[in-house]
Amino acid sequence: MTIEIIGTGRALPPRRVSNGELAERIDTSDAWIRSHTGIAARRIAGEETAASDLGIAAAREALNLALERNRMAEQTPEDLARTLDLIVLGSTTQDYYGCPATSCLIQRELGAKKAAALDITMACSSFIYGLETAAALLKADPRRRRALVIGAEVLTRIVNWEDRGSCVLFGDGAGAVLLEKTGPENRAGPDGEPGILRTILGADGSGWEHLIIRRGGSRHPLKKGEDAVPEVSMNGRAVYTFAVAAITGVIRRMMEEERILPEDLALIVPHQANARIVQAAAKRLGMPEEKFYLNIEEYANTSSASIPIALDELNRSGRLKRGNLIITVGFGAGLTYGGNLIRW
Ligand code: UT7
Repeated sequence: MTIEIIGTGRALPPRRVSNGELAERIDTSDAWIRSHTGIAARRIAGEETAASDLGIAAAREALNLALERNRMAEQTPEDLARTLDLIVLGSTTQDYYGCPATSCLIQRELGAKKAAALDITMACSSFIYGLETAAALLKADPRRRRALVIGAEVLTRIVNWEDRGSCVLFGDGAGAVLLEKTGPENRAGPDGEPGILRTILGADGSGWEHLIIRRGGSRHPLKKGEDAVPEVSMNGRAVYTFAVAAITGVIRRMMEEERILPEDLALIVPHQANARIVQAAAKRLGMPEEKFYLNIEEYANTSSASIPIALDELNRSGRLKRGNLIITVGFGAGLTYGGNLIRW
């Protein structure tokens, strides 16, 4: 039994804000942002757009592409949505605080009537956690066959625009993948069966304070009459150090335990947080930087959406080919980390 990705999609808000435009409002510069992060621009969602809107758009793209590229009994994205057994959404910027889960809003809008819905709030590691959760739930019951895994964020709504050390890093967007459980007799790729082959998940709660939204939870609830808003605060240096070690550790462990050589890997798809973090990890691993896919220049850090957005770009452009072996790798608040080994 394999769990295969049969469709990908992404949705980015149309408004592109360059570093230069940001520097008109904040004490920063294009040169600083580029040299410290590799970011040139980010997308900022309009006021009326919430995470579910972007998630729904990305999900529809994934359903459409699945229909286009696979011979399927279903004729329309709506037909396909009705066959879904599960929708997993990774997000740090859900539409509503606490409840309802944003995945329920997506389920409703897609008309995915028989799908269970589940939100995952592991910050930037949410997609990696979500992919493994969905794959495990599909495997657990022979009646379950298809799942959508989505990452959707409107991070520009929760950044502290007065903190130049963090606000310049983030952007809005969503990505989605459609998973299908297939039998071993189907769809064998040139070098083995396609599918999610292995996942590493981890957490180091001792770093819980390094990346945090302090206000709004039961520890520090927002009180009536207060004008405090929930905002991200970050110890950039601590997260940077953790991130380089986490990325290096996950890739090294995955390759050693699964007996993978660098030349076996078509690509590594890292969470897009900072190009310098990726470059430092590549150096430590002794791997060429070109093995790592980077699109951070255009979109900045879209947290749980960054890996599925990258997967969709690679899939649609034909850069990811059937049979390619890839590793996704990420880290985030919690602190958390992980990676998926996938044969495309
Ligand atoms: O998904 C996970 C999300 N988070 C991350 O991945 C963040 C990981 N951390 C980082 O990527 C880096 O730590 C940052 C990019 C956030 C910061 O880079 P840094 O090289 O660690 O800079 P720093 O915080 O040590 O600041 C260096 C200088 C400071 O000035 P002084 O004190 O040396 O005069 C800052 O005030 O850079 C200044 N600075 C800025 N200057 C212009 C900080 N932010 C900015 C800015 N524009 N946006």
